[in-house]
Amino acid sequence: MITTLAISGYRSLRDLVLPLDQLTVITGANGTGKSSLYRALRMLSEIAQGRAISTLAAEGGLSSTLWAGPEVLSRAMKAGEVPIEGTLRSKPISLKLGFASEDYGYAVDLGLPQDGATFGLDPEIKAEAVWIGQQLHPRNHIADRNGPSVRIRSDTGAWSQIATALPPFDSMMTHAADPRNAAELLLLRDRMRNWRFYDQLRTDRDAPARRRVIGTRTPVLASDGSDIAAAIATIQDIGDPTAFDAAISDAFPESQVRVTSDGGFFGVEMRQRGLLRALSAAELSDGTLRFILLTAALLTPRPPSLMVLNEPETSLHPDLIPPLARLIAQAARDSQIIVVSHSGTLTEALSDENALTHHLTKDTGETTVPEAEDVSWTWLKR
Ligand SMILES: Nc1ncnc2c1ncn2[C@@H]1O[C@H](COP(=O)(O)OP(=O)(O)O)[C@@H](O)[C@H]1O
Ligand SMILES: [Mg+2]
Repeated sequence: MITTLAISGYRSLRDLVLPLDQLTVITGANGTGKSSLYRALRMLSEIAQGRAISTLAAEGGLSSTLWAGPEVLSRAMKAGEVPIEGTLRSKPISLKLGFASEDYGYAVDLGLPQDGATFGLDPEIKAEAVWIGQQLHPRNHIADRNGPSVRIRSDTGAWSQIATALPPFDSMMTHAADPRNAAELLLLRDRMRNWRFYDQLRTDRDAPARRRVIGTRTPVLASDGSDIAAAIATIQDIGDPTAFDAAISDAFPESQVRVTSDGGFFGVEMRQRGLLRALSAAELSDGTLRFILLTAALLTPRPPSLMVLNEPETSLHPDLIPPLARLIAQAARDSQIIVVSHSGTLTEALSDENALTHHLTKDTGETTVPEAEDVSWTWLKR
């Protein structure tokens, strides 16, 4: 379980440290930084897949994702007593992401290249560290990277240099994790790669989830929901079909969702009380289809260590929110779950299910979480 998430210099998340629980809800008004937090988490997972730099580029590059306010936001600036203005930077430009879990912690520091470099706007990984325990300190590092050099500490405590020329766009998590001398790095990397994110489960008229798919075993629903029929069939085959049926009838009394098979192609259909025939996925309402997608995502036969849902309440009828909260709470028994939500009803319903709730607010352009201000965190040094 991840116990702390830390973000610095990413959009409005100038300096945020959040404790996380088995089930955590992140809520707040529009523009308080919820989606940024979701993206920061996803970027951590992408670092472990070697895709962080391209993701940042797709978001407009480091310079547009960096905190756009002054390096130091003083109390007098926040109170409006003095104008908000930048001063000469005392520290290098940097976007930092990190987390601590019950066993390992990881942090990365991204920055810009030296002046005059060919890829002058391409972010570089300046420093990384993996440590044991909750808080980074010099004695609990097991691997670290400074610029191009990576060193790993063995069981005996001796350091060995395992790279001296790691390119600035490669992470030590992807390029230094090998089973012989960096087994722990490999373990942590695989864990980060398996974090699962659901953001855009499409339910529009042309959504791929409305079409039939080839029936392959699908223990993990695709992020766009396109393989829903195969995912449900897999739950029925190797997962918990009773829990699936129960979740559906909790939301839609006296209804059942079934998978049809025709020449190796699978489709979804739903039987509802009062109708003489089942409706196909193409005929279901947005909200109904979305709930079915979320059910298949959450009741996966292969629960990940972490699942993150961004605004799952979108297009759901208010009556579906309490069943959704129950479904999420049930899935949180097997996976750590973070829900980013705009909905007060969902937030309350999840609080009733013992979720830890963080309310994001914005103060002078900066995202703050009043109830989490004292969580301690140490960043790595460049
Ligand atoms: N580079 C930046 N520096 C500071 N603030 C930013 C930057 N980029 C975007 N923002 C602000 O961050 C806020 C957070 O946006 P977002 O995460 O989408 O909020 P939410 O999902 O809570 O509605 C927005 O109000 C936006 O104006
Ligand atoms: Mg948002």
